[in-house]
Amino acid sequence: MSKKVKFQTPTGMHDILPEDQFLYEKIWRVVDDVAAFYGFGKIETPLVEDAALFEKGTGGTTDIVEKQMYTLKTRGGDMLALRPEFTPGIVRSYIQHGMIALPQPVKLYAYGPLFRYEHPQAGRFRQFRQVDFEVFGEQSAALDAQIIQIFYVILKELKFSHLIIEVNSIGDNQCRPYYKKLLSGYLRPRQNSLCADCRRRIRENPLRTLDCKEEKCQRVRSQAPQLIDHLCEECKNHFKSLLEFLDETDLPYHLDPYLVRGLDYYTKTVFEIFSEQTMKTTGEGGEVVQRNALVGGGRYDGLVHLLGGKDVPASGAAAGVERIVSFLKEMEFAAAPAPVARIFLAQLGDLSKKKSLRLLEEFRKAKIQIAESLGRDSLRTQLARADKLEVEYTAILGQKEVLDGTIVLRKMDTGEQETLKLEKVVEEIKERLRK
Ligand code: HAM
Repeated sequence: MSKKVKFQTPTGMHDILPEDQFLYEKIWRVVDDVAAFYGFGKIETPLVEDAALFEKGTGGTTDIVEKQMYTLKTRGGDMLALRPEFTPGIVRSYIQHGMIALPQPVKLYAYGPLFRYEHPQAGRFRQFRQVDFEVFGEQSAALDAQIIQIFYVILKELKFSHLIIEVNSIGDNQCRPYYKKLLSGYLRPRQNSLCADCRRRIRENPLRTLDCKEEKCQRVRSQAPQLIDHLCEECKNHFKSLLEFLDETDLPYHLDPYLVRGLDYYTKTVFEIFSEQTMKTTGEGGEVVQRNALVGGGRYDGLVHLLGGKDVPASGAAAGVERIVSFLKEMEFAAAPAPVARIFLAQLGDLSKKKSLRLLEEFRKAKIQIAESLGRDSLRTQLARADKLEVEYTAILGQKEVLDGTIVLRKMDTGEQETLKLEKVVEEIKERLRK
């Protein structure tokens, strides 16, 4: 006997059912409005790109490329990857379409699904969505501040209240190599006090030890030399200018000297926006404050050049949509009420069922919301349904009426019935509803 197969969504991936669609639509609406106001143009890039684009762009030693990329070989032998983030694809598009020739800065935004082979857990999925904003062709920290402001505004529009912005500067090719050496010099004699990942990171990317969540690594880093103290003049001034812009906008930010971000392309500004939520624990009266990273981004002045374009400075960020949705759900955002029907169409027999499809379409064109129950045959059941929906009229189309070219209109509160010409019914009902 063959075993019954039960198909499920792949691990870490989810259906978005009709009852949740309004939450996503609400986010897209707010994002489109804010983007239009700030002069960002929408861009859509393919779900798959050359795998090498991410290996080079996101970075060969990042978790995303090392452990999380979904790659596939096409029948033609090309190595492609499901996009794990938007930035390299948008940079590719900027170069490919010669956007350098447009007036700069070029401002682009996107939203849609991304794929990372993660260990699924709360707020971490294998297919998730991001909202992403990128600006090309502008050095000034004013643009970094504007990107931060845009994401802050989007979250505020979505009614987030406890938001925290963490900012830092991770320098550039002038100052970072020196700091990296300094940091590995500090870490090496202390490597026995670090986790296995951080021991490996000393060689590959010592900066990543700074944002390790292990307590023992955090103890070691608390005495480590800080990047901020070793920025070159240009990076120091850029960072100072960023903080001044942020002060002007009244954004609630903190300086986090350990914020480094997990992607290779950043230069100077990096930032994250967190929401803080007080969650009840299972213990009596217990509460914990949960921090949730909603947005991450920063400046990436070297990436356009690295991917084959000119030397174009750029800055951007992305927000995790599922994390926003889970907050909106906690807030019990009410769905917009479904359109209320004032008319019900009841049909009796095959012939009238066939006519009903065409008639319903006439009602739709006339913008009259009409309910029906095409799967039901008994008039009693259909009238009971019409009663439940509290419609004002039920239009009854029986076999006889179809043959006569008529329809019966029943006023639901009095039970009065009259016969109308079928071809006139839409117009007649429109008139009555208007009264
Ligand atoms: P990221 O920090 O990797 O940055 O992702 C940004 C946000 O996407 C995170 O803060 C989080 O809210 C959400 N996110 C990331 N991974 C997952 C996941 N597995 N499940 C659910 N949500 C997730 C970037 O992707 C950069 N491209 C941002 C950027 C744009 N930098 C410059 N421009």
